[in-house]
Amino acid sequence: MSDKKFELTDLSSGKKSLLPVRSGTIGPDVLDIASINKDHGVFTFDPGFGVTAATESKITYIDGDAGVLLHRGYPVEQLAEKSSFMEVAYLLLNGDLPKQEQLAEFTSSIRRHTMINESLLRFTNGFHHNAHPMAMVSAVVASMSAFYHDSMDINNPRHREIFAHRIIAKLPTIAAAAHKHSLGQPFVYPRNDLDYCSNMLHMFFSVPCEEYVVDPVAAQALDLLFILHADHEQNASTSTVRLAGSTGANPYAAISAGVAALWGPAHGGANEAVLAMLEQIGTVENIPKYLAMAKDKSSHFRLMGFGHRVYKNFDPRAKIIRTACHKVLQKLGRTDNPLFELALRLEEIALQDEYFIQRKLYPNVDFYSGVIYSALGIPRSMFTVMFAIARTVGWVAHWQEMISDPAMRIGRPRQLYTGCPARDYTSVDNR
Ligand code: SDX
Repeated sequence: MSDKKFELTDLSSGKKSLLPVRSGTIGPDVLDIASINKDHGVFTFDPGFGVTAATESKITYIDGDAGVLLHRGYPVEQLAEKSSFMEVAYLLLNGDLPKQEQLAEFTSSIRRHTMINESLLRFTNGFHHNAHPMAMVSAVVASMSAFYHDSMDINNPRHREIFAHRIIAKLPTIAAAAHKHSLGQPFVYPRNDLDYCSNMLHMFFSVPCEEYVVDPVAAQALDLLFILHADHEQNASTSTVRLAGSTGANPYAAISAGVAALWGPAHGGANEAVLAMLEQIGTVENIPKYLAMAKDKSSHFRLMGFGHRVYKNFDPRAKIIRTACHKVLQKLGRTDNPLFELALRLEEIALQDEYFIQRKLYPNVDFYSGVIYSALGIPRSMFTVMFAIARTVGWVAHWQEMISDPAMRIGRPRQLYTGCPARDYTSVDNR
């Protein structure tokens, strides 16, 4: 608690109250407003939670104005350059970078939990062949609560750890099953001798009739993208997981709620929408027309992959992915990637436009990621599934942080009611 105080005065009644201020390690202080309903009979009003700290957390810190992103204090730029997705997963879940033997044990546990119950495969195959993979993944993840309900005491740290390893390990397998189902190809089982991203590529792209060799460039590109998508503070899907989990619901069901929230085009679904938008724009010559549409509210067209609720500067992840795009496309021999060229020109032109400058609309994490996924041969409908695989680590870390907090309470926001005042029922003859 800080020694600062804010005074709240109801000017109509003259009633005053002091609001305690809490300071974090870094970042803005927060006003503790818990007493204002008791003292003043009012609620606060913040639709979209733009200025509401819904919880205390030690996992990720974002400074939107400075374009800073820290995971347990480590800058995302350093983790992107020096770490691996498994190491970042350990960091987010446990709070510190692992020692060699801790990382080996964690990685080994993840590798041993990659298989899914055969009946989940039958469940996956029950979907129509053109079902959207996000619909399949959210449903299959939710159904895991049926398999692991009895052995899931959320108050038991060991049960929580097993849940964390299971869901992180199985998401790529579930995603690959959805992908293979959409192709009408046989499901490919995971291999415990492959690292996390190589295993994913193996399950996505290998077929029984020929040997598949994982391209290390592709595996490394995926690992980087997963680091950059692993967690992002109290974003919409993470807040969904926290709210669902705060009721004591089975954590697999809470993660499934997070998958559903991520799917929206305003959130994780934007990476798929960016590729559709780039293909719709088609050529550099068309950019002015679409920028004009993006500025015309009546068009309902938005520049997908641009803007962010928190970042009013460059999303640091977008900068890293843009650089990675160059390298990955070069290594894959895909430098003549017209979509990437178009994206670069679109960014350049938009960032010189007063509408975007004034509103501080910059490329976000979703603007360039699809270019890399495309170059790796991943279909557009799977882009948000890739986001979900990575973000599962963040969702689990936040769920664990919340569930293990003795002060945790069920999340239950209030409202400003503007509906009808009380009125009496009238029979249908009198309406
Ligand atoms: C992610 O929260 C997170 O951390 C999310 C995420 C994560 O890692 O979890 O970072 C991942 O979801 C990234 C965002 C992906 N979404 C998109 O790229 C979709 C396109 N972007 C927008 O829809 C929008 O920018 C949001 C949803 C991202 C943010 O919306 P806000 O904060 O509610 O902002 P807003 O809609 O109030 O916009 C403010 C102004 C408005 O204009 P005015 O009313 O002031 O005139 O900016 C305009 C908006 O019309 N605007 C855009 C725009 N984004 C905002 N105009 C054109 N194109 C856009 N993309």
